[in-house]
Amino acid sequence: MDLRSRYLGLELENPFVASSTPLSKNLDTARQLEDAGAGALVMHSLFQEEIEANRGADIGNIAGGDILGGTHTMASREEYLAQFRQLRAALDIPVIPSLNGSSAGDWVDFAAELEAAGAPALELNVYYVAADITESAASVERRVLDIFTALAGRVDIPVGIKLSPYFSSLGKMVTALEASGAAGVALFNRFYQPNIDLESLSISDSLELSTSGDSLLAMRWIAILHGRVQLSLAATGGIHFAEDALKMLLCGADVTYLGSTLLANGPGHLRRIRDNTVKWLGKRGFDSLTQIRGSLSQSNCDDPGAFARGHYLRMLSGYRMK
Ligand SMILES: Cc1cc2nc3c(=O)[nH]c(=O)nc-3n(C[C@H](O)[C@H](O)[C@H](O)COP(=O)(O)O)c2cc1C
Repeated sequence: MDLRSRYLGLELENPFVASSTPLSKNLDTARQLEDAGAGALVMHSLFQEEIEANRGADIGNIAGGDILGGTHTMASREEYLAQFRQLRAALDIPVIPSLNGSSAGDWVDFAAELEAAGAPALELNVYYVAADITESAASVERRVLDIFTALAGRVDIPVGIKLSPYFSSLGKMVTALEASGAAGVALFNRFYQPNIDLESLSISDSLELSTSGDSLLAMRWIAILHGRVQLSLAATGGIHFAEDALKMLLCGADVTYLGSTLLANGPGHLRRIRDNTVKWLGKRGFDSLTQIRGSLSQSNCDDPGAFARGHYLRMLSGYRMK
């Protein structure tokens, strides 16, 4: 089965990319991901706050450091570079470093160091909660574009960007990024919501892994964008089984990012997803992924309205109470 996929200008053996998670912090688990057949590995992020802080600082002590709170030890640029070099030397698959920030600044210079260390591409994750109720949508979009152009301007390698789903016009945001030179978008960043502990009556952090149901959000947007933009499309969020991945590929994803499912089931689960995808394709007489990629995107399917308001109307009016 020909699973070859192209992402951020890179030729991958298959579209099953290990998403940015702590699995890349450990050489053993990274090796297991490659052994299980990952097409590429996106590293855990180095955060703007970490780049701007002093080496080894306690996040709680740096200016504005209450962003991350507590007593986490921060990674330094040197540590991240060393981790990248180690992964790059040990693995044959592309290793894509990830930088994570929320405002433009000198921290983006670090991209050039990663390029110099041999990064084949970079991922920028803009994780910004627009909590200032006086900030306009245009200003939020400008912020994303400014960070991207500043960072991409430091390097010659392809840069992809992981986005949140919370834009008034996601398509316009993506086309603006494409016009600014983005090589790809990863849809979507998972936003972790703070919770409330009813015992201590305090705000608590809760990190819930995704479930397959979460994948439909990205699936719709991949379907809408496929064929309308030239940049690479990575689907991320809720891809746990071959069935989830296949739906993303049918809608037009170039690659599928696997995160929660590998944390929950171990790196070896990637092989199961790949094998079951091959089985599904073979059973239907396909011998290459390109035969199905995008065949159910909005512009190719028989029912384009299904990805827009039409689906909503049908769902609500068709609901039968028990
Ligand atoms: C424990 C954990 C750590 C993560 N760390 C990062 C990170 O450092 N940078 C990043 O861009 N995404 C990070 N993510 C997000 C994942 O890469 C992925 O985009 C998201 O979890 C949605 O995909 P999933 O449903 O397959 O988990 C993390 C996710 C989890 C669960």
